[in-house]
Amino acid sequence: MKPVKVGVLGLGTVGCGSVNVLTRNAAEIARRAGRQIEISMAAVRDLERPRICETEGIRLTTDPFEVANDPDIDIVLELMGGTEFAREVVVQALSQGKHVVTANKALIATHGNELFELAQEKGVMVAFEAAVAGGIPIIKAIREGLAANQIQWLAGIINGTGNFILTEMRDKGRAFDDVLKEAQELGYAEADPTFDVEGIDAAHKLTILASIAFGIPLQFDKAMTEGITKITAEDVSYAEELGYRIKHLGVARKTEAGVELRVHPTLIPERQLIANVDGVMNAVLVMGDAVGPTLYYGAGAGDEPTASAVVADTVDVVRALTADPENRVPHLAFQPDALKDLPILSIDDIETAYYLRMEVEDRSGVLAEITRILGEEEISIEAFMQKDIENEGSRAPIVLLTHKTEEGRMNRALSAIEALDCVYGSVMRIRMETLD
Ligand code: NAP
Ligand code: HSE
Repeated sequence: MKPVKVGVLGLGTVGCGSVNVLTRNAAEIARRAGRQIEISMAAVRDLERPRICETEGIRLTTDPFEVANDPDIDIVLELMGGTEFAREVVVQALSQGKHVVTANKALIATHGNELFELAQEKGVMVAFEAAVAGGIPIIKAIREGLAANQIQWLAGIINGTGNFILTEMRDKGRAFDDVLKEAQELGYAEADPTFDVEGIDAAHKLTILASIAFGIPLQFDKAMTEGITKITAEDVSYAEELGYRIKHLGVARKTEAGVELRVHPTLIPERQLIANVDGVMNAVLVMGDAVGPTLYYGAGAGDEPTASAVVADTVDVVRALTADPENRVPHLAFQPDALKDLPILSIDDIETAYYLRMEVEDRSGVLAEITRILGEEEISIEAFMQKDIENEGSRAPIVLLTHKTEEGRMNRALSAIEALDCVYGSVMRIRMETLD
């Protein structure tokens, strides 16, 4: 049988990683796919830039549309990144009847609904395993392996860069900016690294996971996002003293009222396996009604771990080339006409427990004022810790852990606490999850 021809958009970290894996493991991959896979063309911005993969035998162009329009190409691997331009090229490729494999979570989270509809119309596939949690086959696990279950919630460490930063800060006391620079050098970070540290990248991935878990359309604009830039070394160390780890977590939960969709730093009990996922590793914990909790772990970024998912998707597409389009696994796990418009809940209506750190005047009566305010909002305290800091005179940091309460109540309480004369500056608030 003739080889399947692949065109690659982008020969950066993931593009070159995919070329290297497809080349090195060509024989094994062909045994799995049933056909040889040949990379015939690739688009880059700069033809002179040195590459970490062999490009001999691959026709290079600076025009991605040339790849999307080439009649010989069956599958386009979109590995450029970005949203609007990537969308235009992918729309063109799909319109030309080509299947698309992408690692681009920003593209899928923001334009996925439209792209899947177009792909459906054209009888082609958009595969996006590499878009979530790098090399972990989490899309396949939820979409196919857990198809018997009602998924109740999922929680994941789904940004490798952020987890790498928090781990290095905790283990080696390294400065935030220094670790971020290393993550960029290692190829983990997004082109705009604020996507990693402000939680946008994790929110893109969580949006995708929530859609395939609950059968809802992609709604990135409704995800609540908070980054890790305000986490201090003190928070990391106080959390540890209290038996917790701080992780940047994406949480999606289906409730009677709707769907929670939130990304934020989170205190997790250190006994939980996911609390011990360190460095660039990712993990996703999924709760199904039949199976119970299942945990998926692996490298969340990097050239070959991500290529592992890109190439697996390519093999899936090759296997499906001759299959009836109606009998393929649906893009969002549920049949397109069976997706439900469940409301995404406002963060104000979500209930969690909280870690609160504040600097207060070190005198009698201060704690009473703070607990009175919390009491007025019916917020109950689970633990309290006061630190004596040398040379701080009459100031002392205190840390409180609360039981679960509504975010709206907590916001009102924090405004009142921050207005007290005995409280200096703003209160650091980190949400807590037991993940039981
Ligand atoms: P990257 O290293 O910056 O590579 C991007 C590649 O796309 C470069 O080769 C660049 O060409 C090419 N490119 C960009 N715009 C182009 C244009 N307009 N025309 C032609 N070529 C263009 O990025 P990456 O880290 O591989 O990420 C690629 C995608 O994978 C992104 O969507 C990212 O979110 C996703 N992803 C990345 C990772 C990871 O660990 N890095 C993991 C999972 C998913 P030049 O080289 O000539 O500039
Ligand atoms: N920048 C992303 C991360 C790449 O660090 O997780 C993988 O999607």
